[in-house]
Amino acid sequence: MRILVTGGAGFIGSNFIKYLLENIDNEIINLDKLTYAGNLENLIDIENNSNYEFVEGDICDRKLVDKTIERKDIEGIINFAAESHVDRSIDSAIEFARTNFEGTLNLLEIARDKKIKRFLQVSTDEVYGSTLGESFRETDSLNPNNPYAASKAAADLLCHSFFKTYNFPIIITRSTNNFGPYQYPEKFLPLMITNIIEGKKIPIYGTGENVRDWIYVEDNCRAIEFIFRKGKNGQIYNIAGKNELSNLNLAKIVLSLMNESEDKIEFVADRKGHDFRYSIDDFKRRYLGSSTPSGQDYFTERLKSTIDWYKQNESWWKRIKSGEHFKEWQERNYTRRN
Ligand SMILES: NC(=O)c1ccc[n+]([C@@H]2O[C@H](COP(=O)([O-])OP(=O)(O)OC[C@H]3O[C@@H](n4cnc5c(N)ncnc54)[C@H](O)[C@@H]3O)[C@@H](O)[C@H]2O)c1
Repeated sequence: MRILVTGGAGFIGSNFIKYLLENIDNEIINLDKLTYAGNLENLIDIENNSNYEFVEGDICDRKLVDKTIERKDIEGIINFAAESHVDRSIDSAIEFARTNFEGTLNLLEIARDKKIKRFLQVSTDEVYGSTLGESFRETDSLNPNNPYAASKAAADLLCHSFFKTYNFPIIITRSTNNFGPYQYPEKFLPLMITNIIEGKKIPIYGTGENVRDWIYVEDNCRAIEFIFRKGKNGQIYNIAGKNELSNLNLAKIVLSLMNESEDKIEFVADRKGHDFRYSIDDFKRRYLGSSTPSGQDYFTERLKSTIDWYKQNESWWKRIKSGEHFKEWQERNYTRRN
């Protein structure tokens, strides 16, 4: 199948493209704006693969999206492109509304016009908001509490409306927190791991009691690919990792795997509107036939391999943390504008 993957230079998107090229006979076009979070180094191993092409561009750019779909005779779209960092959305939500909502609308309109056979929207468990009780199911109402989650929820509703109004072949996946190689080190786990390698403290919001569920990125990629092929149009599929942990407990596990003491933990002022617990029930996707290994041993093994990856790829994250990658990004944008 000829698939347009958007946001494929980011964390999950780049892992997904590599997973697709390694495992399934597909032709992939990666459309990515290369924001501060997009990094072509994530894709170096496959950049010359004859089934892969990179196109630099914005999902809000109507002409470019239209031309790319037409030129490559695209049959399916998987939309990973997003502004994805909650803290940045709390500082300013404009880009989140633009890319996550307007960008998705643009893709949907063009995809409908071009009669795309399948459109998968990559969403998040954050759209449900926080729960102290049962895990959320796909039929539960949306209750996003931060601008990032609100922009993703808005995009989900838009996708749903395209299915209902036009019978357009939409599927939505909502996964829990991903971890693994190539995650931008502003996010909790890579920030923690790289800070420990650098001998720094690890910041934990509030008292560290907030709970998140964790899934290894390749397991999410496998689930997304499966659902893309086998899922039913108009349906939403939660993707859980079944590894719910408080941030503090996760920090303690990582410290112990890296042979460091807990005095590296530094509690910092809590995030505004910080959701207490995300939890989803993903019986529906498992019933469809998509399964993910679970259990403490599996989680620990994946966590160890992730820590090893950051230890073995210091140049990748040091370029980001030192600001070098961001400086190049600013210079590129400056040159383009002038
Ligand atoms: N990381 C997680 O734990 C997680 C969990 C659930 C859902 N998600 C969702 O998965 C998707 C990918 O997340 P991620 O963590 O890989 O994000 P990321 O920030 O690492 O990558 C996002 C990518 O999108 C690109 N992009 C941003 N704006 C764009 C635009 N206007 N046009 C084209 N490309 C653009 C960026 O350059 C970057 O390559 C997002 O939709 C996110 O909401 C992420």
